[in-house]
Amino acid sequence: MTIQKNISLKNLNTFKIDAYCDYFARVSNNDDFHELTATSEFLRSKKIILGGGSNMLFTKNFDGMVIKNEYAGINIIGEDEDVVFVKAGGGVVWDDLVSFSVRKNLGGIENLALIPGTAGAAPVQNIGAYGQELKDSFFSLEALNLETGNEIFLKKADCKFGYRTSIFKNELKNKTIVTHIILRLKKNPIPDVTYGGLKRELNYTDRSTYTIAEISDAIRKIREQKLPDPAVIGSAGSFFKNPEIKELQYLKLKEIFSDMPGYKTESGLVKIPAGWLIEQTGWKGKEIGNVATYSKQALVIINKGSATGSEVLEFSEKIKRSVIEKYGIALEKEVNIF
Ligand code: EPU
Repeated sequence: MTIQKNISLKNLNTFKIDAYCDYFARVSNNDDFHELTATSEFLRSKKIILGGGSNMLFTKNFDGMVIKNEYAGINIIGEDEDVVFVKAGGGVVWDDLVSFSVRKNLGGIENLALIPGTAGAAPVQNIGAYGQELKDSFFSLEALNLETGNEIFLKKADCKFGYRTSIFKNELKNKTIVTHIILRLKKNPIPDVTYGGLKRELNYTDRSTYTIAEISDAIRKIREQKLPDPAVIGSAGSFFKNPEIKELQYLKLKEIFSDMPGYKTESGLVKIPAGWLIEQTGWKGKEIGNVATYSKQALVIINKGSATGSEVLEFSEKIKRSVIEKYGIALEKEVNIF
């Protein structure tokens, strides 16, 4: 374990923002962690735990320590008649974990194929796409407390998962490193094809006829069509969350904007696609300097090449203002700002 000084984070965040941090260290096991936490650099610095850097925006240099979670390994640790428990290191590339599960024909995360990021970051925002969320297949996790060095074990209920949120965005924000996650995957999965675009991609007739591999291949195709390839275009996926508003507010808006889409949530609120609000306010495909919204999905803000984080943030604030002015709805960022 070594501590590097003054490191560029450009290749460590999917927005490709060229910000620097004072200190940088990689941690791949508990010995590394305890060695690091005893150093004066660690003790006197602010810290960020970095996974794939796929949900962060650096608006300035980070005057603290960036710790890259590199806990590795994917292993089957138990099973019963219906389910298999799979344990993955926090630094495992999320999509490698999806591919592992698909190869073993284990169901539960196949619709989450190609989501950028790592296994350890997945519970932080309860990643979700195309009808599945991490929480549906999540069993437990192991983490280390950055202040005390103590091990923490959290079961699913302890994680307080919600739409793009968890305990790690609230009480435990920036307080832990997730060393391992344990998923509970199904041996005889029933494919989830509730997302309309997925049915179209599959030429859907009867869900019993699709394998896990076919579903995840279809998801890969949909994502490739709709979302920018993180290897080519800098972005952090959806920049905002889809806002959830009271039904009464929705009905009032619907009187004026009759084509406004909305989906009832379990809690009785109505979820509005932020991409629609952004498109309707004229921002789809719009560019200002080095920043733009993606032409095929307005919810994704992209770095055209050499944008700074503060340019991206300013651009996003303009979008937010337009949406408030027209609809009275305050968009909330999904991306973490540093
Ligand atoms: N829409 C538009 N214009 C746009 C984009 C979207 O009108 O430019 C409207 C359409 O009505 C469309 C609806 O928004 O039917 C939903 O769009 P889409 O299916 O692309 O999904 P989304 O709600 O924009 C969410 C997640 C994505 C996830 C997709 C698929 C959030 C914040 N985003 O996007 O997750 O891949 O659903 O399930 O919940 C991410 O979190 O980074 C992410 C990419």
